[in-house]
Amino acid sequence: MKKMMVGLVLGSTILIAGCTTASARKTADDQVTGKQLAQQVCSLCHGVDGNSINPIFPKLAGQQSVYLVQQLKEFRDHHRSDPDGYKYMWGIARYLTNQQITELAKYFSQQKNILAPKGNAELEAQGKLIFTEGIPANNTPACATCHGPYGSGNGIFPRIAGQHTKYIEKQLSIFKDTDDRPDGTVMKVITHHITPVEARAVATYLSSL
Ligand code: HEC
Ligand code: HEC
Repeated sequence: MKKMMVGLVLGSTILIAGCTTASARKTADDQVTGKQLAQQVCSLCHGVDGNSINPIFPKLAGQQSVYLVQQLKEFRDHHRSDPDGYKYMWGIARYLTNQQITELAKYFSQQKNILAPKGNAELEAQGKLIFTEGIPANNTPACATCHGPYGSGNGIFPRIAGQHTKYIEKQLSIFKDTDDRPDGTVMKVITHHITPVEARAVATYLSSL
């Protein structure tokens, strides 16, 4: 038991340091199921049930399984290359098999998303308007059109409800200002006119939706 604990602690330290030898052994092996990986490896950052605490790490709980599969392959193939994605996810995703990816996606999509407490009321009201009606003045469409009336997503359209405010803001600026998420060309058009204040408003609304 003691030996196992030491192993676990060492494993986590190595992972956090960004070196993937310990996890690579697990991730390349189909015998290690997605659920085991989720609970032993992904949990370090994303939480055992996919409800991460630190907003650097997106919540995966209740995320669309089609979207999760797609993003894991994007990291594995080095297409999604924003700095945190590159730094944290390329190494982890590198040796995942297709079977593990399917199982991981199934596991996290079945977890229940725990909402954040309500944020600033004024920002939320502004965010709600953007979410449900868009910004007609500059042709920004309503987010609900694609992400669903409750933001829970559908297939390739990710769940954005219940996500960390900071993570959403960061992704909106990645879509707007970079080409680091080539799968998100549709979001590039949508974020084109969004100001940082509008991004914060819609992100604040979404994190408790
Ligand atoms: C050492 C920390 C760490 C570990 C361990 C980790 N991740 Fe991540 N993961 C991140 C970070 C940071 C991001 C956000 C990258 C960004 O900002 O683009 C991320 C992003 C993701 C995303 C994209 C989510 C979205 O909403 O687009 C998925 C899917 C994901 N991780 C799945 C996994 C799975 C499955 C595992 C285990 C096999 C795992 N991660 C292990 C840090 C980690
Ligand atoms: C025309 C459809 C469409 C509309 C409208 C739309 N989105 Fe998206 N959105 C997408 C797609 C598709 C993706 C997945 C992109 C990818 O795979 O990289 C996405 C991804 C995202 C992500 C990244 C999620 C994650 O977990 O990394 C955020 C955040 C987001 N959208 C927010 C918004 C907001 C806020 C609005 C409204 C201002 C909006 N979207 C409007 C289609 C849309």
